Amino acid sequence: MAQPQPKQSGDGPRHVAIIMDGNGRWATQRGRPRLFGHQAGARRVREIVEACPDLGVDYLTVFAFSTENWKRTQSEVAGLMSLFRRYITREAKALKANDVCVRFIGDRVRLDAKLVSMMDELEALTANCRSVNLTIAINYGGRDEVARATKRLARDVALGKLDPEAVDEETLPKYLDTCVLPDPDLVIRTSGEARISNFLLWQSAYAEYEFVDTLWPDFSAEEFRKTVGGFGTRDRRYGAVRA
Ligand code: FPP
Repeated sequence: MAQPQPKQSGDGPRHVAIIMDGNGRWATQRGRPRLFGHQAGARRVREIVEACPDLGVDYLTVFAFSTENWKRTQSEVAGLMSLFRRYITREAKALKANDVCVRFIGDRVRLDAKLVSMMDELEALTANCRSVNLTIAINYGGRDEVARATKRLARDVALGKLDPEAVDEETLPKYLDTCVLPDPDLVIRTSGEARISNFLLWQSAYAEYEFVDTLWPDFSAEEFRKTVGGFGTRDRRYGAVRA
């Protein structure tokens, strides 16, 4: 099946992906533990999801935990995992009521069984929702995703299901965690850092980037609207020359 096509210049972004950075600094500025910042960050997610329909954003993907985030202290990692469980428990009803279809991307193998079953349940509960597609990346890394996809692709070659000569740019995306999603049109990173940190590496080949200084817990729906609004002024050429 053909991949959904990205929007052209002048339209708003159909798929916005966000690197939600700055929770730790936000908490430190207030003399509070880092987890306090993550909790405030989790509350922001709801506001940003709710802003999507009016902006014509059909897909929102948020980076909640990277494959590199395991290097943080054991207490921060445990606190984040517990926050994800609480988020699912607290938000499930509202997400369903707001017609939000939730998906998770990333490698679930290293996540605890309780969290994985809650993720599965939330995906099942919201599978038929159509207003916004919210994708939450947990234990996600772009390189890891491509490596896992390649492993599955190689297995299909070994089983004779896939002809190696037929492998092209359209083949690998079918094996990525994001296989049912269009590529992001706009990637936003908060907190003033201008890095992509292993997020949606394959999928963002032609994405526009916006790096904003605001720390994630302060990133309001109003600022989201402005950032998304700026997208319409971008001239997207996909390597071609505008006639
Ligand atoms: C980066 O800020 C943020 C994270 C590693 C965690 C992101 C998690 C949330 C926003 C909350 C949970 C989200 C959901 C969807 C339930 P940082 O800690 O690296 O900040 P710093 O750079 O200021 O230290």
